[in-house]
Amino acid sequence: AGLLLLWALLGYLLGSVPFGLLLTRALGLGDVRAIGSGNIGATNVLRTGSKTAAAATLLLDGGKGAAAVLLARALAGPDVALLAGFTAFLGHCFPVWLGFKGGKGVATFLGVLLAAAWPVGVAACLTWLATAAGLRISSLAALVAAVLAPLWAVLLGRPEVAALALGLALLILIRHRANIARLLAGTEPRIGRR
Ligand code: G3P
Repeated sequence: AGLLLLWALLGYLLGSVPFGLLLTRALGLGDVRAIGSGNIGATNVLRTGSKTAAAATLLLDGGKGAAAVLLARALAGPDVALLAGFTAFLGHCFPVWLGFKGGKGVATFLGVLLAAAWPVGVAACLTWLATAAGLRISSLAALVAAVLAPLWAVLLGRPEVAALALGLALLILIRHRANIARLLAGTEPRIGRR
């Protein structure tokens, strides 16, 4: 039990590093929480005008999720790895450093899935990319990718990853409440717009 708690905490701490906020501050782009949706994720970092900062945020927020899974798997085994991935996602969404007001978890979700079962992660990334390319709305692409990820995991024969993906998808839906309201109202901005 101590081992589980340790990895849950390590996963959380890794996930709680708010790369979008740190990068935009370091690059003098201002406080990302004061623009666009106010979110700390790559989509909103892009609204500062910096594609480089947005790409780096995407890679680092995804990378921390993947790192939590890979580290835990290497040192504590595959079951603990899924736990660490789950808590890394929680860390991103509810970081203690920001008064538990964090991101929406999409990049971290994709990173966790890529490390947990890469074919499932690739399927989820392709779902996001295809939806984003077609509709140019980041939140909608995230919602479609999140909802379909458990299905990809089942089809690819990874029921344990499907269970994780289902839990994360539900949290992603909850984190996108404001986006869903804007989507329904037809006011959700396209990628790169405020
Ligand atoms: O990753 C979050 C994305 O799905 C939506 O971001 O800033 O448009 O709320 P944002």
